[in-house]
Amino acid sequence: MNKFFLNLGVQPLANNFQKKYSANQPRYNLKLYFNTKSKMVSISKRIPSSVMFNSKYPYRSSMSSTMRTSFKQLSNEIKIKFNPKLLLEIGSNDGALLTHFDKDIAIGVEPCKNLAKITKAKKYYTYDDYWDFKLSSKIKKKFKEVDLIYSANTLTHISNLKDVFKSINLILSEEGVLIIEDPSLLECINNNAYDQFYNEHIYVFSAIALKNLLKRFDLEIFDIKNLPTHGGSLRYFIKRKKNKKFNIKVSVKKQIYKEIENGLDKFSSYKHFAININKSKSLFLEILNKIKKNNKKIIGYGATAKSVTVLNYCNIDNNLIKNFTDTTPEKINTFLPGKNIKILKYKKNILNGYDYAFLGAWNFRREIINKEKKYVKKGLKFITHVPFPRILK
Ligand code: TYD
Repeated sequence: MNKFFLNLGVQPLANNFQKKYSANQPRYNLKLYFNTKSKMVSISKRIPSSVMFNSKYPYRSSMSSTMRTSFKQLSNEIKIKFNPKLLLEIGSNDGALLTHFDKDIAIGVEPCKNLAKITKAKKYYTYDDYWDFKLSSKIKKKFKEVDLIYSANTLTHISNLKDVFKSINLILSEEGVLIIEDPSLLECINNNAYDQFYNEHIYVFSAIALKNLLKRFDLEIFDIKNLPTHGGSLRYFIKRKKNKKFNIKVSVKKQIYKEIENGLDKFSSYKHFAININKSKSLFLEILNKIKKNNKKIIGYGATAKSVTVLNYCNIDNNLIKNFTDTTPEKINTFLPGKNIKILKYKKNILNGYDYAFLGAWNFRREIINKEKKYVKKGLKFITHVPFPRILK
């Protein structure tokens, strides 16, 4: 049974960056639910993929050095450990991982045509289509099977998980490996990172819920790695149940034990999380209002989808946060979804004239603060809302 635990209000599409601000852009209820049987956490309102992921999708995987390094390290690991003859990436974005492999052994699937174009131009075989059984059948016809499937921050964006895994099962070879990585529900709950929830993140996986789900497809997790990316992610290594080539590592038991210890299998923990998020909102507003009262200026750093959840949930407008800045070309000179806050192009002197910077991209906190050392020395202070709202020392 799906049980409701948190209402994050009426939210716009998290990546709907518009050139002109309009108060009337489409908005949807963002409510969070916990399924007491499958232990899956999900949002209620499902927006069709074609509305969220189209040729205007602005998110690019390779916009931060942290992510570029992470993909490079992973590609080396994949080559050494699994040496795939044919690799398929679901949600290949701008090719941040794919392009570390030879063109003749790597296939991309990327429904956002603006992004698929980038890897196509580099001569990588890229399907600019949504991941489903129809596409998987098409790929099977051409390539027969693949021995490694990788997908980061994509499968949790697809409403029909049954179709997702059925389609994977269709083309994964008998001894093939599926690697998926997504934000960790445990980290999200422990960090009060309610901004991991937005319309694109239909599910936030725990190892417990994923294990339950995979069972239905005769798949099982054989290793789990904790990653610092996206504020704490899990990389799951998955195989067919009957594949005895890989032993199940202790990391799997450890993660599940940690999650049970933190109550991720119990509804009461989510009610507690909801109370914390209410408190987080009040405290965050208190800090911003105090800064405003002192006539100081705040800029948002990193116009993330996460910031959209925070600002719309907390009802923060440009009277509290003047502007945002971001490096992504598609976001520049647009407005933060749902807000009258303009996003300025990042340049070296962009922080001049601001007293505080709200870390919209708090998951890149170290990279950003390191980059802006000069301003910190001059007195600029960073604000974060995770794990609780505060001005960083
Ligand atoms: P991310 O945290 O992956 O976003 P989301 O919540 O949308 O999944 O994206 C980080 C955003 O921050 C991206 O728009 C690029 C931007 N950014 C900067 O503008 N400057 C930086 O130094 C860094 C690290 C990120």
